[in-house]
Formats: sequence, C-alpha cells, structure tokens
Amino acid sequence: MADSSNGKTLSDYVAGSFKGSELDGLDAVISAIAEGSAHVHSQVQAAALADALGTTGETNVQGEIVQRLDKSSSDTFVDVLNGCGRVAVIGCEEIEDPVIAGDSNLHEYIVLMDPLDGSSNIDVAVSIGSIFGIWRRNLGEEVNNDSLLKPGSEQIAAAYVVYGSSTVLVIATHSNVQGFTLDPETGNFVMTHPNLKIPDQCPYYSTNEGNFGNLDDNTRQAIMNLRNSLSLRYVGSLVADFHRNLLKGGIFLYPADKGRPNGRLRLMYEANPLGFVAEQAGGSASTGSERILDILPKELHQRTALIIGNADFVGDAVNTIGG
Ligand code: AHG
Ligand code: MN
Ligand code: MN
Repeated sequence: MADSSNGKTLSDYVAGSFKGSELDGLDAVISAIAEGSAHVHSQVQAAALADALGTTGETNVQGEIVQRLDKSSSDTFVDVLNGCGRVAVIGCEEIEDPVIAGDSNLHEYIVLMDPLDGSSNIDVAVSIGSIFGIWRRNLGEEVNNDSLLKPGSEQIAAAYVVYGSSTVLVIATHSNVQGFTLDPETGNFVMTHPNLKIPDQCPYYSTNEGNFGNLDDNTRQAIMNLRNSLSLRYVGSLVADFHRNLLKGGIFLYPADKGRPNGRLRLMYEANPLGFVAEQAGGSASTGSERILDILPKELHQRTALIIGNADFVGDAVNTIGG
C-alpha cells in the first residue's frame, strides 16, 4: 500500500533520476506531462462551472463524438509537449495524423497519448484519466508518420494520471513505478506511492459484463471463473480501473468479441503504456493470445483486446481463452 508522502516532489525525482543519464531529456518530457496534467486537473474540476462539459459536435478518427474536455486536454498536452523541446513526434487519440514536433538532435522522444480516458464519465463526475507511452528515436532516423510505430516493448517509460478523489500521476521506467499526488495548493506533484508493485492478492475483476453475450465460449468461461471468486469493480474508465487494480490487486479484461474481433481499446496509447506499467510493477498484459508489448503496430489508431493486471490471473484467463 502507499506510504504517506515523503515530501519528495516530482521535480526532485526527475532531476535525480534522468539528468546526465542515457535518458537525459526525459526529465523535461515528464515535467511537461506533469505540467499539462495540473492544467487538465483544473479544467476537469471547473468544467461544469465553465460550461465546458458536453460535446464539440465533432466526430474523431475513432468515430466517437468528441467531448469538449477531450479536445481541451489534447490541446493542452500537445502544447506542453511541443514546448519542452525534447519531443520529435506526438501521437494522440484525438488527432488523426501524428504531430511532428521537431527533428533536431534534441528531439529524442516520441510520445503517444490518450489525453482524456473515460470520456463517457466526464459529465457525471466519475474518475477519468490521461495515458502516455514514451519511446526514444534513433538520432539520425528520419522523423515521419511511421516514426511512432514501434512495439510497446521498446518504450523507455510510461505514465498515466487519474483525475479522481485526488489527482495521481504514476510514472514507470525500467527501474521502478512511482506514484505522485497533486497538491492543488501548490500545483506540485508530491511522491505518495513509492516503488509500486501489484499485490499478490487479487480481489477484483473489471469487465463490461454487458458484453458477455457477445463473447465466445472460452472467453465466457474465463469471465465465469472470475465471477466465482472475485468481486466486480468496473468504472468504465480504463485508467481508473487499472489504477485500483495496481494498488489493491485485480485483473481488467476487455476481450475481443463477436462485434469487435480486434478489440475495443487502442494499442498504442492505452494498452502499450499500461502494459508497460503493469509489467514494471510485476503484472502482465495480453491480448488473450499475445503479450501486448510484443505486437508490431501497423497503424497509430489500431485496436486490441486487453487483459491486464495480476500476472497469475492474466495467465489463467489467457489459458482459458486459448482453450
Ligand atoms: P476513451 O474515453 O479514451 O475513448 O476510453 C474509453 C475506454 C476505456 O476508458 C474504458 O475502459 C472503456 O472505454 C469503456 O468501454 P465500454 O463503455 O464499452 O465499457
Ligand atoms: Mn481511452
Ligand atoms: Mn480518450
């Protein structure tokens, strides 16, 4: 479980972790994500008061109605990531094509993001979030639309934010997984969840039981096995369900179904970043037949099935789904 705040701020953490290392410059990228998250926190808190709820009336590349907070959070993160001077390409759920941010030798990082996850929960004050995958590019490699089509196993870091009863930023590198809570008074993130590891116990399963009728027989059996032993918790915001399962133990499943054989969630900026966090915290992430981080991506917005969380329970579910 989380320790109380040790007073260490995010700035202390990034300065002590990356400057002068082979990940030099990552501090600027993570600080930009933190800065953008503090802005989005304020946007989320004030949305109803600022007449910023509801839709823009546009439809995005996903074929989904764009919520006004989807757009404002996307704009916010593109702005701060461009501004940090270290990002070459940005991929975003809300933007059809990659945003080429820079191609100098300083622009070493690639960021793929879901700026506002759980959009159906925005207007009803239920937890939502933001998700980020971070890759490095090979300097000298041309910067273009394909620069960001790298497997999740090549991520060098990942992060997510939950805008819930508190606003928590979780950052995973190949060394550890650290959680920080926003102090709304100062606008700083303070370390509150050091060295996160997913617990061995697994009290919860998270899935949209309304899809049960669309599942094949093996997948139904995997869900029934979980029904018989675990409690159901399903927020409808992937990042909130994932965060609870990371802290308390659990498994999240959005399997392929008859209507969506390729799954519903997005590989590059939902499954890959959270799959990286899960594995660094001792968990795992699968499509039901393949490790998420092994998938060779073909396009920015491709979808995937996702089973993620406690490694033993993910393994059991994958074995049952595989028949
Ligand atoms: P987004 O709001 O970025 O489109 O993501 C929503 C996703 C994910 O957050 C959540 O787990 C899932 O949609 C819920 O889907 P259902 O409403 O089909 O259960
Ligand atoms: Mn999402
Ligand atoms: Mn989204």
